[in-house]
Amino acid sequence: MAQPQAKSWNWRPASIWLLYAVGFVPAAWYFYLGATGQIPGNAVKVFEHLLGIWALRFLLATLAVTPLRDLAGFNLIRYRRALGLLAFWYVVMHFLTYMILDQNLNLSEIVKDIAERPFITIGMAALVMLVPLALTSNSWSIRRLGQRWNKLHKLSYVIVLAGATHYAMSVKVVTFEPFIYLVLAFLLVAYRPLRPRIMQWRKERRVSLSEAANR
Ligand code: HEM
Repeated sequence: MAQPQAKSWNWRPASIWLLYAVGFVPAAWYFYLGATGQIPGNAVKVFEHLLGIWALRFLLATLAVTPLRDLAGFNLIRYRRALGLLAFWYVVMHFLTYMILDQNLNLSEIVKDIAERPFITIGMAALVMLVPLALTSNSWSIRRLGQRWNKLHKLSYVIVLAGATHYAMSVKVVTFEPFIYLVLAFLLVAYRPLRPRIMQWRKERRVSLSEAANR
């Protein structure tokens, strides 16, 4: 009689949940520090800053998955959806912090800010563009939308550039940190149109190397 197969433990879904759990640690930790009065100075601004920075980091990490796989053979594709959703939730938390803690839900001030302060207009546009991406990040939407899904998700390039520009414009002087985020966003977006040529060149190089080895 055939022995029942021992079910091997699949660590992959668990590692994705672990990424979600770890990804929310900075928000939870700073929320705790703020709520217990352990953030010196303007706690709301510190919290807002932290959420904005992590939103941008997760956006950059999401866009870094493809070049990392192409150029370094480091395949993190299964984590891309989680990274994108973490970026989305950080932007939502950043927005809620701005609305509730910074502006005390003063809707007329918020609307005025969005309409009149260009860096907030750009941030808001990025959040609006993130919504359809988050809503269609599930497997059902990927199957249903087919090629249209790829086209829609190209919005992520505009979003990361908007996010980095929003950051650079939010500071009075563009120091090293916002500059680096802008450069990274630009490089990750600029990689996309160059990608077919880079891949072709790598393929040709592989073929010529293997031919040389077989000679
Ligand atoms: C993709 C979307 C967004 C990203 C990546 C992002 C990221 C950031 C970052 C990194 C900062 C700099 C924080 C600092 O150094 O103080 C910032 C500042 C700010 N963001 Fe956003 N943000 C986004 C969307 C939004 C939205 C939707 C709003 C509100 C409508 C908003 C409101 C603000 C405000 C008011 C500040 C300035 C905080 C201050 O006065 O220091 N952001 N954001």
